[in-house]
Amino acid sequence: MKTKVGIIGAGPAGLMLGQLLSMMKIENVVLEKQSQSYTEKRVRAGQIGEATVRLLTDAGVGSRVFAEGIIHTRAKFQYDDEARYLDFHALTGQTVTIYSQQEILKDLINARHKAGEISFYEVSDIEIHGINSNSPQITFCHNNQRRILECDFVVGCDGFHGVSRAHISNALTHFEHEYPFAWLALLAQMPPVSADVIFANHESGLALCTMRSPSISRIYLQSGVDEDPREWSNEKTWDLLRRRLQGGAASFENGIFIEKTIVRLRAYVSEPMQHGRLFLAGDAAHIVPPSAAKGLNLALADARTLARGFDSYYSRKQEDLLTAYSTCALEQIWRDMHFSDWMVRVLHRSECNPRFNHRLQISDLHSAMTSEHAARHFARSYVGPAPSSLWI
Ligand code: APR
Repeated sequence: MKTKVGIIGAGPAGLMLGQLLSMMKIENVVLEKQSQSYTEKRVRAGQIGEATVRLLTDAGVGSRVFAEGIIHTRAKFQYDDEARYLDFHALTGQTVTIYSQQEILKDLINARHKAGEISFYEVSDIEIHGINSNSPQITFCHNNQRRILECDFVVGCDGFHGVSRAHISNALTHFEHEYPFAWLALLAQMPPVSADVIFANHESGLALCTMRSPSISRIYLQSGVDEDPREWSNEKTWDLLRRRLQGGAASFENGIFIEKTIVRLRAYVSEPMQHGRLFLAGDAAHIVPPSAAKGLNLALADARTLARGFDSYYSRKQEDLLTAYSTCALEQIWRDMHFSDWMVRVLHRSECNPRFNHRLQISDLHSAMTSEHAARHFARSYVGPAPSSLWI
């Protein structure tokens, strides 16, 4: 088999890249190790900025996000026994939209089917070859058959544990940080505890309440890294949530937990995001802590930047945008990393001198919420890039 761009991974980065390339009439094949239904059902991120909404629209998959997305204009921050709103719409003119990652994937998969593009799900034993030549190859198993895909380029969109980054690991510089706490991540069958996303800094730790739809709540509670979600009884979980929200939410007595997992908070960036004819996009190249909902937006933005490079390469025989991909993508990645890290630092209980650090956090948060200049900067970081800053 031959194609122009071989894409490993059918997550947001891989499927968006495939969709944009198809619109540009650039042949591509997507290879995914999981089944299609698994990728469509996996609940992950769910908050997107206006630039991402615009990207979905420009990629021809924006109709459902407009019909079903829940638009937010502000977020609530609770600290030191009071609640304040970051009215990011008033401060920036931009909103954020709640729309689940799996819905974005469904939209992209449907568009790919309609366009008749080739995807292989449930592949195994993927290997990458010849990335320093002009004709790299991907070998893989599908339906018990060994296959070879010849490409002009390979793009690794296979997430943090995929094969692509590992293939060029020696050529990359790795930056990483593990936070000394985790999140108990809860998916609950119940309406959102508030119409706004709530970030609560309680002296016992963070509570973050958001949503995936009008009937599904997503709640995170700061926990220890080695905790077992099975040891979090429903009673213990509700009690802690109630305590950390300090009455700052509507009742959630009838909620039913559908999922309880422990999520490690980590930060990771590999530089550059390319070696030879292998490019990395999304979680394959970077993980930002989930505190500011930036990971999904960044993965989709990588796909946009890379598609722009391939368009220039195939339509005008210019390599400069492909060469600039890594530098260009990393600028926003580090900006979002900085903001996500700041959100982690001001919202979580620190075990190192907790009382002193709590006062510092409150002071930092309070000045970010109340000084006009700082609040504008906070709001801009929260909503992400403006759609007008985009190409395509
Ligand atoms: N072969 C083929 N596919 C693979 C392999 C492999 N060896 N390893 C992983 N994959 C697939 C995974 O099954 C997954 O479907 O690659 C895909 C990677 O998808 P994601 O992990 O969602 O990564 P990405 O597209 O970069 O999106 C990341 O989504 O939920 C957010 O917080 C997350 O923000 C991050 C963003």
